[in-house]
Amino acid sequence: MTPTPSAPVIEVRNLHKAYGDLTVLKGVDLTAPKGHVISLIGSSGSGKSTLLRCCNLLEDSQEGGIRFEGEPVKWQGTGHDRRPADRAQVRRIRTNLSMVFQQFNLWGHMTVLQNVMEAPVTVLGHPKDEVEERARRYLAKVGIGDKADAWPAQLSGGQQQRAAIARALCMEPRALLFDEPTSALDPELEQEVVRVIRALADEGRTMIIVTHDMKMAADCSDHVIFLHQGLIEEQGPPETLFNNPQSARLRGFLSAGGNG
Ligand SMILES: Nc1ncnc2c1ncn2[C@@H]1O[C@H](COP(=O)(O)OP(=O)(O)O)[C@@H](O)[C@H]1O
Ligand SMILES: [Mg+2]
Repeated sequence: MTPTPSAPVIEVRNLHKAYGDLTVLKGVDLTAPKGHVISLIGSSGSGKSTLLRCCNLLEDSQEGGIRFEGEPVKWQGTGHDRRPADRAQVRRIRTNLSMVFQQFNLWGHMTVLQNVMEAPVTVLGHPKDEVEERARRYLAKVGIGDKADAWPAQLSGGQQQRAAIARALCMEPRALLFDEPTSALDPELEQEVVRVIRALADEGRTMIIVTHDMKMAADCSDHVIFLHQGLIEEQGPPETLFNNPQSARLRGFLSAGGNG
């Protein structure tokens, strides 16, 4: 199926997800148009990470649809037996939606450069010299071009997270998915990662960002979604959502500093 050029990179409709008896997503919609940044906010346990992981098919869901660039994910079975039907499709979607996690998950036995080069070489099968050139370019872009030959343990947390972002970029994905990218960092290191994410937003990258950092959500996003117990309680452009929240729950959450 040929992708529709104008189709959103990711489109989720009426998504339901349970872990056994625990229903975590109760009918959620999300649209990430090309070049847009969507932030997901909400209390711990509201389903943010689960929604993000459903988007790139790291988690199964029981009901609802997911489209990648207009192409619907093919399912087999129903309810708790529902699985993606086409493994090649899953692989293609997943390699096009690079994740950046709270814990940077760099390989300790590889240099920074090797970490960044690993997936494009082994998963995509791209030629090494081409990937190395690209990897160095992305390391420079996130401000750690001089750390290519260092080991992850020799880097600060902020530098490690920037290396993880370079690694995600080196896959040249259609979108980047961030799950609390700054929450493992000391406040002074947080800012260097926020700056990188803002620069990526400014250059028109498609991103979905789960964050507890309301300032980053306000500064970087085109659209903010506030999740509460597996449902969208409120959503809109950051100016509206943060300056004129409608729901009492969102007001309470924001006045608690976004940790509610
Ligand atoms: N692998 C899992 N197995 C069972 N329950 C899970 C699993 N992952 C998350 N949950 C539960 O799902 C709910 C939503 O979790 P999560 O999506 O991680 O929330 P958030 O990212 O908003 O903090 C929580 O109640 C959590 O305990
Ligand atoms: Mg989470």
